[in-house]
Amino acid sequence: MAKETKDYSKYFDFSDAKVLHEDENGKKIRIRGREIHILSEPNHKQEKQRGKESVQVHYEQAVPDELRTIGQGKHYIVYTFGCQMNEHDTETIKGLLEQMGYQPTEDRKEADIILLNTCAIRENAEDKVFGELGHLKHLKTENPELLLGVCGCMSQEETVVNRILQKHGFVDMIFGTHNIHRLPLLIHESLMSKEMVVDVWSKEGDIIENLPKKREGMRAWVNIMYGCDKFCTYCIVPFTRGKERSRRPEDVIAEVRDLARQGFKEITLLGQNVNAYGKDFTDITYSFANLMDDIHKIDIPRVRFTTSHPRDFDDELIAVLAKGGNLVEHIHLPVQSGNTEVLKMMGRKYSREHYLELVRKIKAAIPNVVLTTDIIVGFPGETDEQFEETLSLVREVGYDSAYTFIYSPREGTPAASMKDDIPMEVKKERLYRLNEAIQECSRESSEQFKGQIVEVLVEGRSKNNAEVLSGRTRTNKLVHFEGAPELIGTFVHVEITDPMTWYIKGKIVNDPVVSA
Ligand code: SAH
Ligand code: SF4
Ligand code: F3S
Repeated sequence: MAKETKDYSKYFDFSDAKVLHEDENGKKIRIRGREIHILSEPNHKQEKQRGKESVQVHYEQAVPDELRTIGQGKHYIVYTFGCQMNEHDTETIKGLLEQMGYQPTEDRKEADIILLNTCAIRENAEDKVFGELGHLKHLKTENPELLLGVCGCMSQEETVVNRILQKHGFVDMIFGTHNIHRLPLLIHESLMSKEMVVDVWSKEGDIIENLPKKREGMRAWVNIMYGCDKFCTYCIVPFTRGKERSRRPEDVIAEVRDLARQGFKEITLLGQNVNAYGKDFTDITYSFANLMDDIHKIDIPRVRFTTSHPRDFDDELIAVLAKGGNLVEHIHLPVQSGNTEVLKMMGRKYSREHYLELVRKIKAAIPNVVLTTDIIVGFPGETDEQFEETLSLVREVGYDSAYTFIYSPREGTPAASMKDDIPMEVKKERLYRLNEAIQECSRESSEQFKGQIVEVLVEGRSKNNAEVLSGRTRTNKLVHFEGAPELIGTFVHVEITDPMTWYIKGKIVNDPVVSA
């Protein structure tokens, strides 16, 4: 691959950076006395491209035998920011670290390696990470042997990497979302050389199967695909996560079967746009509906998925979900806006009417379905009237809950060059009103539960009261009730006594479930 010469001066003053060595394997530079080995670096232009080359699947061992003792007697911490995709990547990172002999700790002072698995979705997500880096600098000063790494979606951004090189020279490792499997080698190199090692792949490569994963609890995440090709105009994800590529059905199914055998009670299938699953297969015709139908036959009590894009949610999928069984009655269906014009500007490729029609079809096929969503307020140019349409859509659909956000411009996305012309007070007011509307819907939906008996997977003790257990219904509602800790990890029947807004209270009964 031809290396492009990058103009660092675009973002920062790199006049004191000296290139020490450069060849096809990367380059060594020195900035303010810190030597940096750049094996590969993020490149926005390349991240934008969607190559035609087919995806290869590798079933290799990621931790070579000679690195399996490198972490013996040492401790690690991984801090995770962002979505479930990142949470799950962290499980892989922990799996790799433990195969290298590292043990977990919560005590920063005891840690020999600390990794920040970062999120780039909004500016405040990035601010949190830079704030954390500030704290870690002190720790590194006290303990120079501490290895500090930054990975995840922020590492895929040119500006972020440049800022770290310039201003946070105490960081030891930067790697991206496409090459997590190289972590053992990067740790090794960083320990040996004492240089900062940067290895961020811009082109999403292949799919690496069989990476170790450290899962905890009774619920497990399962990746079904990586990347996103939707390019919604506000969103950084297609750049940080690369092109859409699906795992082979046989690999997904084998993983789900294995989780069932291990006793997991619930799985959540993960993808940025699960409805696009299988569209990249060139040798077989196999869709998300086919996958759900196959997983429906596996003996695991609950199956969820996230996230589905309304545009590709087809009738075949609705028909499969209507079969119920382990396929739960909860669909997270991000709408983003209730106004067709704004949706067009966002590049969502569906209209308000299309979305509402989809909701109608889903509700008709799955009568007790619960819908949740994501909404952005204050997208460039959004008028008061357009925002009112979002409120009316929220009321019409009757969401159980929603993640709501103030629009945050992301450099390199098409929306970032639109005029961000709505004052912050207006954005905040819209967010406030939106949250009130959602709270109202949520309360109404909880009210309907009163007196019903629901199936609850007991997850643990309540955070606020050790006598009280907490768990979730099939529709993902949080339920609190009194019970013995032995029930954790089992299914119980709970009669709902007090529906609150964000959770419901109930009491355990022995009667059979009459409703989900
Ligand atoms: N793949 C998922 C979304 C992942 S990002 C989907 O398409 O549904 C999670 C949510 O973050 C998005 O649904 C959107 O509501 C929000 N989001 C993404 N980019 C944003 C931005 N630039 N500003 C504010 N919110 C954003
Ligand atoms: Fe972002 Fe849109 Fe892809 Fe979701 S579907 S990850 S919002 S580009
Ligand atoms: Fe954030 Fe990356 Fe997820 S940007 S929301 S961690 S895909």
